[in-house]
Amino acid sequence: MTRLTRAFAMEHPIVLAPMDLVAGARLATAVTDAGGLGLIGGGYGDRDWLRREFAEAGDTRVGCGFITWSLADRPELLDIALEHGPAAVMLSFGDPMPFAARVHDAGVPLICQIHTLGQARRALEAGANVIVTQGGEAGGHGVGTRSTFTLVPDVADLVARTAPGTLVLAAGGVADGRGLAAALALGADGVLVGTRFWAAHEAIVSPRAHQRAIEADGDATIRTSVYDIIRRYPWRGVYTGRLLRNGFIDRWHGRESELTANLPHVAAEFRDAVDAEDFDVANVIVGEAVGQIRRVMPAGEIVRRMAGDAAEILGRFADASASLRV
Ligand SMILES: Cc1cc2nc3c(=O)[nH]c(=O)nc-3n(C[C@H](O)[C@H](O)[C@H](O)COP(=O)(O)O)c2cc1C
Repeated sequence: MTRLTRAFAMEHPIVLAPMDLVAGARLATAVTDAGGLGLIGGGYGDRDWLRREFAEAGDTRVGCGFITWSLADRPELLDIALEHGPAAVMLSFGDPMPFAARVHDAGVPLICQIHTLGQARRALEAGANVIVTQGGEAGGHGVGTRSTFTLVPDVADLVARTAPGTLVLAAGGVADGRGLAAALALGADGVLVGTRFWAAHEAIVSPRAHQRAIEADGDATIRTSVYDIIRRYPWRGVYTGRLLRNGFIDRWHGRESELTANLPHVAAEFRDAVDAEDFDVANVIVGEAVGQIRRVMPAGEIVRRMAGDAAEILGRFADASASLRV
């Protein structure tokens, strides 16, 4: 039991990351049914997708997460989410302040994902109930200047000093019981997991992409802006994304101005590759934890194994701690 499992009446302190168009109702409900908490990926904001996935989740308790700068362009999506009485609303990548009051007024817990201590302070000002502390190991977007191992204790200390009722989740590189045990030891109340659940049967991912990820190791990812430029997504400022390297990324990473100049032509090539599921060009968005994933599994099995292995590890260390006492 952690403060997270008590606050959200969950069995295991494991939350599914709201991965855009990957984390639909099937994956989110599977995680909740196994004792974690599933968050549907609200992503860049597609109202039909959001309505459909909430409807499919039915009475199963799930939340959803938005890309904050994109939500600012389509603020009505937050109303759609709040109409469904979500277990939580998560905001990532942008200032949460303009949306925080609406989430609080609806009586819904607010989760804010942050990448730096400065962003953590802003999330606390916005009244976040849960702060997701994302290190640069993570799959998908982030800032990438801090790693999970140091940012989690920094944020846990900040919260303990200034807002002790706020919960802290670790994100970035957590793929098994070792990661969960480490996160708890660093002061987190639980974990938010993306890449490991991306490789679940219920994730909306092509089997060919899954196969590529399973064959990759932890050295195989890179942080880059190439896949935002090619998809014409207007990510702003400090954000880059981590994904699997391939021929396309190797060709354009470091040549972003040239890519922008050649965009219409290269974007057509990219779209064809996405349609053909050619992952030498199309993107496979995973983090460094991909190296620990050797098999696609049902999400429920991922939750149960992660929780069981972490309990076993922490039990072992409880035994070992006896020999450390002087
Ligand atoms: C395929 C993929 C898509 C993601 N999409 C989103 C998203 O739409 N919104 C968001 O807040 N985070 C997104 N993330 C980041 C996660 O919230 C989380 O920080 C990250 O997955 C944690 O690290 P891990 O991948 O090592 O578990 C995504 C991550 C992945 C792997």
